[in-house]
Amino acid sequence: MNLLQLCVASMLPVVGLATPQLEKRQATKITVDLTKKYQTMDGFGVSLAFQRANLILALPTDKQRAVMDLLFSNTTGAGFTILRNGLGSSPDSSSDHMNTIEPKSPGSPTGTPVYVWDGKDSGQFSISQQAASVYGVKQFYANAWSAPGFMKSNGNDANGGTLSSSWNQAFANYLIQYIGYYLNAGVPVTYIGFLNEPDYSASYASMLSNGQQAASFIKVLRPSLDAANLTSVGIVCCESTGWSQAQSIYSGIKSSGADSMISVVSSHEYSSRASSSLSTTHHSWSSEYADLNGGWTTAWYSSGGVGEGLTWANNIYTAIVNANVSAYIAWEGVQGGSTNEKLIQINSAGNDFQVSKRLWAFAQYSRTVLPGAVRVGTSGGSFKTTAFKNVDGSIAVNVINTGTSAASVTIAITGFNATAANAWITDSTHDMPTQVAIIGTDGSVSGAIPARAMVSFLINGA
Ligand SMILES: *[C@@H]1O[C@H](CO)[C@@H](O)[C@H](O)[C@H]1NC(C)=O
Ligand SMILES: *[C@@H]1O[C@H](CO)[C@@H](O)[C@H](O)[C@H]1NC(C)=O
Ligand SMILES: *[C@@H]1O[C@H](CO)[C@@H](O)[C@H](O)[C@H]1NC(C)=O
Ligand SMILES: *[C@@H]1O[C@H](CO)[C@@H](O)[C@H](O)[C@H]1NC(C)=O
Repeated sequence: MNLLQLCVASMLPVVGLATPQLEKRQATKITVDLTKKYQTMDGFGVSLAFQRANLILALPTDKQRAVMDLLFSNTTGAGFTILRNGLGSSPDSSSDHMNTIEPKSPGSPTGTPVYVWDGKDSGQFSISQQAASVYGVKQFYANAWSAPGFMKSNGNDANGGTLSSSWNQAFANYLIQYIGYYLNAGVPVTYIGFLNEPDYSASYASMLSNGQQAASFIKVLRPSLDAANLTSVGIVCCESTGWSQAQSIYSGIKSSGADSMISVVSSHEYSSRASSSLSTTHHSWSSEYADLNGGWTTAWYSSGGVGEGLTWANNIYTAIVNANVSAYIAWEGVQGGSTNEKLIQINSAGNDFQVSKRLWAFAQYSRTVLPGAVRVGTSGGSFKTTAFKNVDGSIAVNVINTGTSAASVTIAITGFNATAANAWITDSTHDMPTQVAIIGTDGSVSGAIPARAMVSFLINGA
């Protein structure tokens, strides 16, 4: 029981006794400097690769809508603005394989391909259409884990192997064909990737590559995209297992003269974390990372474990501030099983789900920091604070209080007076409801930041 509660409980006058309490609760000033500009954001995203999209489509209709809202609604869910789809290479769709659109070899690299489109794409096609039409998602990233086996050194889409360079043009055509199926359905594929963890040979779809090999393919893919009227589709490379591996393959792309042909340098964070900026003028994305091992947790904070929500708020913060990322893409949106690989766990009967707090850590950023937002300077306070100027002029300020004491902040934006402000909170007992944000007579905005909480403000003004 604290002093204030004691006084109220015993009906004693609070004069004198309350002073230390007030001091403790004095607002911390956070200053946002709009003249200090950092990276431009592309947004926050999620993947439903390896047939996880099918798990959503198999849910009862009401649960299906609830999960889609949780992932894509910008008022009641995470409001993800990027969907990373797995572009298949497998001759079958058994197990969780992502099937190819060219099941049979045309005999030679110049043979006429026979493409087969099943209209499902492991459930991703329907989910993408809904994301675009119902939720207004505009960024779709089609990412091949491998080329079909017949284009590779090992004759298999799994177990590593490399793309045989004589098939470069055929593989570029293959990727363009896939983009066309989505475009025809009103789903703009805005980014294309042709590798996943090229430094790791996996028993599932995987293809090895160094920077030089990647560059040799990029030099074919870029002009092929342009010739197909797909100049606006950016090449994302290379989904390395970790940050230092990404730097190494990217250096090879640069020294092989393909740097100007790519749009985004992407990396996962399994083998090394996003702790410093990649040395590039392109946007950097942390495009996949998850706790693959931990027992399923829905906790925001329990012991600081790798699967907890507050840990993930910190992960995203670190990648944005220390590693200059323009996007953070969660790994599986949904999945069965007992690890923290997914944001939402589908039960074993396949008819219900449970939401982790990791989803709400993403939501705090994704719903306030919109595509095109420019990160700006912040100072003051010991919170993990980021601020962004959105394209519509609104200012997002995200404050993570990792401490054990409740606090409050007053946000002053230099040269900007707030006229309207909203705030949303996530902690152990809240999944991003609104909370009070008070506009001061001086144009600042104040709000509470409870212990171990994340509060995001969205401020309009002039
Ligand atoms: C929120 O989503 C709706 C579609 O559901 C879209 O029309 C609107 O532009 C989105 N708002 C923002 C701020 O992105
Ligand atoms: C090229 O793509 C643009 C949209 O990006 C479209 O408006 C135009 O009609 C396309 N042109 C051709 C020749 O397909
Ligand atoms: C951050 O990334 C941008 C590209 O988005 C780049 O221009 C800038 O130099 C990077 N900053 C640092 C500190 O690496
Ligand atoms: C903000 O308000 C103050 C006091 O009312 C005023 O002096 C200042 O010019 C305003 N700034 C902007 C950018 O409108």
